[in-house]
Amino acid sequence: MKAGSNERMNQQLFLKQVPAGIAGPDDFEVQNNPIPELVAGQVLIESHYIGVDAALRLIVRDSDEFLFRVKPGDLVHGSVAGQIIASKNSEFAEGDYVLVSGGVQNFTISDGAGLERCDINQAPLGAWLGGFGVSGLTAYFAITQVCKPQPGQTVLINGAAGAVGSIAGQICKLAGAKVIGLTGSAEKCAWLTDDLGFDVAINYKDADWYEQLEAAAPDRLDVIFDNVGGVILDRSLKLIAMRGVVLLCGSTSQYSQETMVGPNNYIWLGTMRASMQGFVVFDYADQYAQARARMAAWIKAGLLKTVSYEIAGDVDVFPQAFQALYEGKNLGKMLVKLPAA
Ligand SMILES: NC(=O)c1ccc[n+]([C@@H]2O[C@H](COP(=O)([O-])OP(=O)(O)OC[C@H]3O[C@@H](n4cnc5c(N)ncnc54)[C@H](OP(=O)(O)O)[C@@H]3O)[C@@H](O)[C@H]2O)c1
Repeated sequence: MKAGSNERMNQQLFLKQVPAGIAGPDDFEVQNNPIPELVAGQVLIESHYIGVDAALRLIVRDSDEFLFRVKPGDLVHGSVAGQIIASKNSEFAEGDYVLVSGGVQNFTISDGAGLERCDINQAPLGAWLGGFGVSGLTAYFAITQVCKPQPGQTVLINGAAGAVGSIAGQICKLAGAKVIGLTGSAEKCAWLTDDLGFDVAINYKDADWYEQLEAAAPDRLDVIFDNVGGVILDRSLKLIAMRGVVLLCGSTSQYSQETMVGPNNYIWLGTMRASMQGFVVFDYADQYAQARARMAAWIKAGLLKTVSYEIAGDVDVFPQAFQALYEGKNLGKMLVKLPAA
């Protein structure tokens, strides 16, 4: 496409209303809008993949308490992996693959600030939004710089079959720890043990999941890597080991709740001299390149698998993909794969 050409329309997804419960198609509105002309310094990016993030449900709440907010009438926030198809910026050329916080739309205009180049020889473009992107980097820094599991220790990953959890568990295995994963189906449990090398996987929908966990961790849990919060975090705290670490990565079970609840069993942290640690991956942005180099070496050596669950379609399939994420349909990172890919 010529720089500045606007022959094509941009399909964009807007938030229609503050969702009640898990967001569904009725909460969003699709619009087809013209693409503005590029001005000097700008590039036009065509989206190939859009990341579907659980935290979107947190930022569409009717609340200003969180760092970032999407309100009714706003373009829905989303990370995009795409290709530059027109450039009036000397730093970027047509054909370059980039990551952009572009929102849920086919085309993004950027002045280049905050764009990250994707080397598709290191990992396929979609993986740059998942296991090789923010999800994988979250797992990498949280495990290697905060949790620091040691050989012989036991780690529990809550939300183990998702984008972050699946990478976190594999990195703990590389560190020599025993890894237990909690997830929501027998099929996902089998994937964790058979394909990703987790030692044990437990379906938290089983009535006796806690007893299964207790039996799998006779020496208690040195690390709890928590993606989900709620009852699962609460009950697992009873098994924290002496001087254990509870890493608060995310709270997926709470994002859509009218009233969010914290753990009752915090008292075990005191008894066991354990710590509960918050974590945000963006604190490590200046180290992403080194982390990716190490992860690329693991991938090449067959020691790390980055898995994506792709739903193909246009921007209008995003609401279904978001619902499917909350229904736990995904193994690894949930992505919308757009026609351009
Ligand atoms: N701290 C950071 O810097 C950072 C960065 C990225 C992401 N995060 C957070 O990390 C968490 C995981 O993100 P992700 O992208 O890897 O998502 P994900 O795990 O790929 O997808 C969400 C998963 O959550 C599970 N789930 C849904 N509802 C649940 C419930 N009520 N209770 C328990 N599990 C439920 C589903 O799997 P099941 O089949 O297992 O139920 C679903 O597949 C999110 O909370 C996200 O906000 C934090």
